[in-house]
Amino acid sequence: MVQRQSTLPLSAGVSKKGHLVIGGCDTVELVAEYGTPLYLFDEFTLRNKCQEFKAEFRQRYADTTVIYASKAFLNGALAVILREEGLGLDVVSDGEFAIARSADFPMDMVYLHGNNKSAEELNMAIKHHISRIVVDSQNELEMLAAMAEETGHIPDIMLRLTPGVDAHTHEHITTGIIGSKFGIPLFAADEMVKKAMSAPNLNLVGLHFHIGSLITESQPYQEAIEIVLDFAADMKQKHGFELEELDIGGGFAVQYTMGEPVPPVSFYAETIVSRLISRCRRLELSLPMLTIEPGRAIVAQAGVALYKTGVIKDIPGIKRYISVDGGMADNIRPALYGSPYEAFVANKMLEEEAEQVTIAGRFCESGDILVKDINLPPITRGDIIAIPVCGAYSLPLQSNYNASLKPAVILVKEGKERLIRRRQTYEDLTSCDLF
Ligand code: LLP
Repeated sequence: MVQRQSTLPLSAGVSKKGHLVIGGCDTVELVAEYGTPLYLFDEFTLRNKCQEFKAEFRQRYADTTVIYASKAFLNGALAVILREEGLGLDVVSDGEFAIARSADFPMDMVYLHGNNKSAEELNMAIKHHISRIVVDSQNELEMLAAMAEETGHIPDIMLRLTPGVDAHTHEHITTGIIGSKFGIPLFAADEMVKKAMSAPNLNLVGLHFHIGSLITESQPYQEAIEIVLDFAADMKQKHGFELEELDIGGGFAVQYTMGEPVPPVSFYAETIVSRLISRCRRLELSLPMLTIEPGRAIVAQAGVALYKTGVIKDIPGIKRYISVDGGMADNIRPALYGSPYEAFVANKMLEEEAEQVTIAGRFCESGDILVKDINLPPITRGDIIAIPVCGAYSLPLQSNYNASLKPAVILVKEGKERLIRRRQTYEDLTSCDLF
């Protein structure tokens, strides 16, 4: 049990009563006050991860910018913390952009991504003079050039390339291979650089790639860096292109369970930076600004999902199901990617593990299983199950399946909690219906 606790937020501990405590707050008391399912974020872990990425990369490569990938989870309170920690934001929609604006996020720290940006989204990016527009296709480049001409503002843009590298991760979250819907394949990229450089209303500052998510190895990053730098050197020779910025995307893995240890941030920083420097030297390129876009690795460990147990169903010799009051509507990752998670009984942290159980969600799908075959203390109705590493991609992928209400989200710090998103109400559910 003690070992498994390393997946919990950094401030986690256990009270004398045997309750899970996070950010100085007793999770059992939080649940009594805010109900379940409840998502909790530990501010200490959030800030620590922001600082760790900045420190590990900058001590090896001073000119590093850390841009948080909002799709992992964004709301107003989180945006304020990211702003205070000096991170930028990668947004992929006018929705994420609206949240950034609601928190007064500095526009010169916002990057716009997306494989199908609408005219409205591009217009908004130009109008607000955001830091970078990361162009994903020829079609977008043409649209953007025409729009920029109309407004008179010259946006800084980057081209997203598909380097043709396999990141060895789940097929749904690999994006660097040729044939991906994202990015510009290398064979078409020469033409794009030429077009972008000759567009009088666009300023091409760099190149971007994002090869996938949950990447545990250094080799895919290193390979992609080499391919893209080789391409940049070629473009310098052919078109006089100067690579001012190299954006290597996100994808840094986090540890979901004890069975799958992942490398520390320092490993990614060391292997990425060393390859960037050595390849630039070899190609006689000036060192560009390095941009990284971690999403999951900033928020995952800070987040914990809390549920209450209900029906316990024994199928002798086969399974013991513990049903909880949430599931795939608030965390679809196990059903979608087969993602493994640990679990704790938050009100029985000092009790010995005594039985193997499967934690089932409450939704009408057989695939709605949160954690398969895990050893936990004896569980009875009304116990509190805590699932760690739920801070990334669970909330943004939530649905109202079975007309369930999206849970409340709280932020904990030094013994105090703050509601940062209220639980939905039945009025929220019906408010868009017309009769
Ligand atoms: N930059 C770009 C352009 C991206 O598309 C992504 C993620 C990131 C950065 C951040 O990647 P991260 O550091 O979080 O791995 N729903 C999936 C993950 C999808 C990732 C999409 N793109 C999941 O729950 O595992």
